Amino acid sequence: MSERYTEGRSRSIRICHGAVPQSFGRGRGALPTIRGLMPAISFQHVGKTYRSAQRSVQALDDVHFDIEPGEFFGLLGPNGAGKTTLISILAGLARASHGQVSVLGHDVVDDYAAARRNLGIVPQELVFDPFFTVREALRIQSGYFGVHRNDDWIDELLANLGLADKAGANMRQLSGGMKRRVLVAQALVHRPPVIVLDEPTAGVDVELRQTLWQFVARLNKEGHTVLLTTHYLEEAEALCGRIAMLKLGRVVALDRTSALLAGTASTMLRFKLDRPLPPELAAQSRVTGRIVQVTAHDAHEVETILATLRRAGCEPEDLEIGRADLEDVFLEIMNAAPARKEAA
Ligand SMILES: Nc1ncnc2c1ncn2[C@@H]1O[C@H](COP(=O)(O)OP(=O)(O)O)[C@@H](O)[C@H]1O
Ligand SMILES: [Mg+2]
Repeated sequence: MSERYTEGRSRSIRICHGAVPQSFGRGRGALPTIRGLMPAISFQHVGKTYRSAQRSVQALDDVHFDIEPGEFFGLLGPNGAGKTTLISILAGLARASHGQVSVLGHDVVDDYAAARRNLGIVPQELVFDPFFTVREALRIQSGYFGVHRNDDWIDELLANLGLADKAGANMRQLSGGMKRRVLVAQALVHRPPVIVLDEPTAGVDVELRQTLWQFVARLNKEGHTVLLTTHYLEEAEALCGRIAMLKLGRVVALDRTSALLAGTASTMLRFKLDRPLPPELAAQSRVTGRIVQVTAHDAHEVETILATLRRAGCEPEDLEIGRADLEDVFLEIMNAAPARKEAA
């Protein structure tokens, strides 16, 4: 997979370098200045091993890449890949065992307060204080960052996240989806230039997904850097300009989304089958009930696959041949990437 790890090339897509977003919370207080040509986020050879008396887990292994100001960057990987660990280190909630992480040039350990001020983090877990109303929770969060008299911006956030009529509601009265909206508002309340969302749409309804993506896409258009982890690959495909894929703590692919889509098995055969798939096709196939999807790199491989099916006496029904999507790319990369070596 190393040829796909084209960090140097990808770095050339720099969007609005050095630009300070103008319209986020229009005219009300300046955003922290983006410093020169600093990456928005820099992961330098980051490793993390969780140690306990019983065992140690190497959650991250030499993760090394930069995210440039203005990028919409996707971090994908199966459960346990290390996405939340990487974000926890970025947020200062966990310490890296190796390497450095910085936000707009501020080291997350040595210069924690400045790094944290530049970040808005929407955590994967729903954490909230049940005793406050939505508006109180947002005012308190503003206060943590030394931002006072922030009600105009809080109102704008509430309106954009479909929470306008919930400002006076107690946090414990809100549904899960509404709580998640409040978490997003909390992350943005101090107008951070870098926004990090850890699986923000896991288990939420379609309406929230749409509201959220509209809003986050707008913020990104206005110059904010976005780092997103998600299980929904169609979201990543639609939103992210670049994507890194993590497997067992290692970056196994990093490229522009379009290059990832173009650089892999570009064809997908989909059909229904009433008998087991021939074993020689298993490695390149995904089976969901009767539905089988098989990747192919070219027309010759399509013919080979069809011949293999015929030889095995399989009669594919409703055969379609189409373009691979990001999910296909993801599965291909995950299947090809080597397993992790045991942590010491
Ligand atoms: N606090 C922790 N203590 C021990 N192991 C952990 C802890 N947090 C995560 N891990 C382990 O680290 C690995 C990466 O987990 P995580 O970062 O949550 O992955 P992801 O967010 O991609 O699902 C997993 O093997 C997980 O079990
Ligand atoms: Mg996670």
